[in-house]
Amino acid sequence: MEEFSLYVLDIVMNSVRAGAENIDVSLDDRGGLLTFKVTDDGCGMTEEQLERLSDPFFTTRKTRGVGLGVPFLKMLAEQTGGDVKVSSVAASESPESHGTTLVATFHSNHIDFIPMGDIKGTFVTLIQGNPDVNFTFVHETDGGEVRLSCAELKSVLGDGIPLSSPEVLAWIRGYLAEAYEEIK
Ligand SMILES: Nc1ncnc2c1ncn2[C@@H]1O[C@H](COP(=O)(O)OP(=O)(O)O)[C@@H](O)[C@H]1O
Ligand SMILES: [Mg+2]
Repeated sequence: MEEFSLYVLDIVMNSVRAGAENIDVSLDDRGGLLTFKVTDDGCGMTEEQLERLSDPFFTTRKTRGVGLGVPFLKMLAEQTGGDVKVSSVAASESPESHGTTLVATFHSNHIDFIPMGDIKGTFVTLIQGNPDVNFTFVHETDGGEVRLSCAELKSVLGDGIPLSSPEVLAWIRGYLAEAYEEIK
């Protein structure tokens, strides 16, 4: 995968597949250091599962998608002098409060880093495919920041209108296009 946005999609889909209701995605890309953080309240992982996460052949999925998973994110991070850390609390061990946090760092000026790709399109794709998930997206750059909260959008729209409806998606696309234009 030669665009970072594809890694973002792949990693956030892990949280979706874990049954998370709330997923916070942040990209802090300032001063040549990029921190990509995903926090979810999904099913989490046991310590044993967590240990196997750096094994490229470990999956609980039944079908292989196009994504390459956490090991490849780790490889990209380490290639640029960064790293990936994952912490998790399994629902089987803590039914009240569980979930996963992944933090990946990259030196975004490093020769081995890759183009960012279409980050805003990735946010839209995630919302469109998973309208019931409450995503928050924060993208901080040297030029300013872009923020989007699905929970806030839902409270403005009311219950009847899903975020996946064409009008809402068009509004989100426009909002993000404008917000990114401002920090360019
Ligand atoms: N956020 C998460 N919450 C719960 N389990 C996760 C999460 N991320 C990864 N996992 C577990 O780790 C496994 C490996 O993830 P990954 O490396 O992305 O490969 P894949 O998604 O193709 O299985 C997943 O199948 C899943 O069991
Ligand atoms: Mg995956």
